[in-house]
Amino acid sequence: MTSDLYVGLMSGTSLDGVDAVLADFAGAKPRLIAAAGVPFDALLRRELLALNASGDNEIERAALAGNALAARYAASVGAVLAASKVTAAAIRAIGCHGQTLRHRPERGYTIQIGNAALLAELTGIRVVADFRARDIAAGGQGAPLAPALHAAVFADPAEDRAVLNLGGFANLTFLPRAGAVTGFDSGPGNSLLDLWAAQHLGQSHDAGGAWAAAGRVLADLLERLLQEPYFALPPPKSTGRDLFNEAWLRKAFRGGEEPQAVQATLLELTARSVAAAASAHCRGARRLIACGGGAKNDALMRRLADLVAPALLEPSSRHGIDPQHVEAMAFAWLAKQALEGRPGNLPSVTGARGPRALGAVYPP
Ligand SMILES: Nc1ncnc2c1ncn2[C@@H]1O[C@H](COP(=O)(O)OP(=O)(O)O)[C@@H](O)[C@H]1O
Ligand SMILES: [Mg+2]
Repeated sequence: MTSDLYVGLMSGTSLDGVDAVLADFAGAKPRLIAAAGVPFDALLRRELLALNASGDNEIERAALAGNALAARYAASVGAVLAASKVTAAAIRAIGCHGQTLRHRPERGYTIQIGNAALLAELTGIRVVADFRARDIAAGGQGAPLAPALHAAVFADPAEDRAVLNLGGFANLTFLPRAGAVTGFDSGPGNSLLDLWAAQHLGQSHDAGGAWAAAGRVLADLLERLLQEPYFALPPPKSTGRDLFNEAWLRKAFRGGEEPQAVQATLLELTARSVAAAASAHCRGARRLIACGGGAKNDALMRRLADLVAPALLEPSSRHGIDPQHVEAMAFAWLAKQALEGRPGNLPSVTGARGPRALGAVYPP
C-alpha cells in the first residue's frame, strides 16, 4: 500500500513543549501513525516567556532560543520515527509551526522562531515553516490555521459541529453541515490558569483544575475581565499573549484577591468566554469536540459541558484522535498542502483576501 507520510510539530503558546505526530495522508481520512511529546525544561520555558515581551538584547536571545528549539524539534522527530520504525527518507516533509513570540496581525506581522534551516540540517528531512505570514500578508489574521484539518477529520454531513481547541488560547472551528467553515480565537485557554498556578502552586499547571474547582469565583473580578472588548469583536479575530497577559489580569485586581479564588475565576473566565463565543458564532452546533491540553482539565471540561448544554461536549479521543495530537496533525497536513502548492488557509476563517499556499520550504 502506498503512503504519504508527514511529521507535524506543534509548540503552542502554553510553552509546555513540543507535540509531534507522524501522519499518513494517503487514505480518504488523515491517519495518525505515531506521536511523541518533548517537554521544555524550565530554563527554555522561562526564556521563551520572557521573549514574548520586549527586553534587553532580544534579537540575539531570540536567535539562540530558536537554535535551542530546533534541537528539541529534532529530538521529537527522532522520537516519532523511532516509535513507528519509519526512516527519515520515507518522510516527505516536517511541518513545523515554530514558537510564537509575537502575533500582531493588526500591525501586519507575526513572529514564530525555531530555526527551520537547522532543523532540516539536524534531521536530513525537508522542513516547511512560517505558515502564518502569508495569510497576514493577504490581509488575514494568520490564525487559526487548524480549521481545515478539523473539517477533514471531524466534519459530519448529518450534524452541525464545532471543534474547540484549548491551548494557551482557545479557538473554535464551526463545521456546519452546509456552508463555509468558520473559526476564530475566543480568548484565553490555559495561559492565565498556567501563569497563576506557576506563581502560587509552583507548578506548570493546575492538574485536573482541582485547585480552581475548590475555589470561590469572584463575581466582580469576572465581570471586569469579561468587559474586555476583544470578547465582543466579531470574527475573524485572533489573539495571544500580546493582549491576555499578566498585566491584563492585574489591571482588573482591586487588592486583597485570594489566590485560589483568582484561579477559580480564571477557569470560569475561560469557560464563560468559550461558551458565549460558541453560542454566538457556532449557532446550531450539536456537538463540541474538544482538543488541546485543556481537554485534560476535568474541572474546566465539567464547567464547559454545563454551559454549552444541550450541545454535547466531548474530547476528540471519542473521534479517534487524542486531544494532544490534533494541532500537530494540522501542521503535518499544512506541510503537505505547501509541497503540493495548495492553499493552507481558509479565507472564511482568517479573513484573508483569498486562498494562499502557506509556508517556506527548507530542502533536506
Ligand atoms: N492534566 C491536566 N490538567 C489541567 N491542565 C492540563 C492538563 N494537561 C495539560 N493541561 C493544560 O494544557 C496545556 C497544554 O496544552 P496544549 O494543547 O499543548 O497548548 P499549546 O498548544 O498552547 O501548547 C498545559 O499548559 C496545561 O495548562
Ligand atoms: Mg503545547
